Amino acid sequence: MNSEILKQLDDYDNVINEREVLKRYGYDYRLDRGLEKKYLERLHPRHITTKIIDIIEETPSTKTLRLASVEKYLPPFQAGQYISVNVDIDGIRTSRPYSISSSPDETAYYDITIRRVEGGFVSHYLLDSTKIGNTLQISSPAGNFIHNPIIHSNKLVFIAGGSGITPFKSMIQHAVNTGISRDIWLIYGNKNSEEIVFDDYFTMVAKRYPTIRYIQVLEEGKAHYNGYITAKIIKEVVGDSSNKTFFVCGPQGLYKHILKELQTLQLKPKQIRMEMYGVPPDVFKQNGWPEDVNSDSKFKITIKNKKEFTVTAGEPLLNSMEKNGVIVPSLCRSGECSLCRVKLISGKVYQPEGVKLRQADRRFGYIHSCAAFPITDCEIML
Ligand SMILES: Cc1cc2nc3c(=O)[nH]c(=O)nc-3n(C[C@H](O)[C@H](O)[C@H](O)COP(=O)(O)OP(=O)(O)OC[C@H]3O[C@@H](n4cnc5c(N)ncnc54)[C@H](O)[C@@H]3O)c2cc1C
Ligand code: FES
Repeated sequence: MNSEILKQLDDYDNVINEREVLKRYGYDYRLDRGLEKKYLERLHPRHITTKIIDIIEETPSTKTLRLASVEKYLPPFQAGQYISVNVDIDGIRTSRPYSISSSPDETAYYDITIRRVEGGFVSHYLLDSTKIGNTLQISSPAGNFIHNPIIHSNKLVFIAGGSGITPFKSMIQHAVNTGISRDIWLIYGNKNSEEIVFDDYFTMVAKRYPTIRYIQVLEEGKAHYNGYITAKIIKEVVGDSSNKTFFVCGPQGLYKHILKELQTLQLKPKQIRMEMYGVPPDVFKQNGWPEDVNSDSKFKITIKNKKEFTVTAGEPLLNSMEKNGVIVPSLCRSGECSLCRVKLISGKVYQPEGVKLRQADRRFGYIHSCAAFPITDCEIML
């Protein structure tokens, strides 16, 4: 920057004065140049190459992959955060986010616990085609589904469905390992007992620590409660809800149902924290989806100055681009982090409720490709 402009900045004189003091005491500030970048890259590397060092069978449909860094260093994370796993499956480069299920105080590895999704792509690959010793490229940890003791209560109600248990495993294990004092009620819903993940661990912890309660809710079979998780069950289990923070994580179906139930408890919005969990699998049934577009509808996508391809309605634009060799960075794949932003030059896309576009993006025609479903021919600029 021009030195005359620098002199007009507020605090210019103070900075010059500070430099003089540093010089007087023999400290050379120039040696610090580039240090912030170095620290940032260590705390938040763009990619980490990991090796699978263990595979743990949790249930018939769920496994934990234990990942250690090839570089012998993993950045720290907060319980509740996720990583994005990058894969190349038969020439299609894509990624999926997975919450870290191990505790942040276990610094030698990250665990991710994957449940098979019917008709899924990456979950099948990770469960069926990876072996101990394989490498996996991952992002550094990200996400805001964390307990912040300054904002949130220390009385925590964790509501999980199926594979949504993973961030809670990390949070509970962290509290247990480090002796942090928290009052926790874990209410965990599953179809049947075969699908419960980490059952032995939670049962053991709840027996040993009276401040951690573990409540199973099963659609079928013997459990504390049967059916779905309801406001009535929550009330019976946690009592007064006015002094507690509720964390919810699970497949999309859980959110719709649980939000309605939590509304009846008259909680303040700040008492509820919801983890994102991808885009709705049944986009055709979402509010505002155009009636004349169905699973037979096909549209032409033009990537400006690059290529053209045809897509079938109902698939997120990001997935279609990846299948056609167009790679856009991605992280959350839930419409929240903005990394997969592209400009929609012409055409229309459907964006489900809850997609967090910045106002400027909306104004200038940017969309989150992970949560945008073409409903006409579209032209896109990367
Ligand atoms: C922040 C975050 C954390 C996550 N953590 C975990 C985790 O710890 N463990 C885990 O197993 N998964 C987790 N997921 C989900 C995971 O990222 C993938 O979406 C999941 O593994 C399915 O990927 P897939 O490629 O097999 O299916 P896709 O090929 O992406 O989808 C195939 C079909 O299934 C539908 N579908 C996708 N996901 C689900 C689902 N969860 N339930 C029902 N239908 C679905 C799709 O809409 C599509 O119709 C997390 C997602 C997010 C956003
Ligand atoms: S990958 Fe995060 S908004 Fe699309």
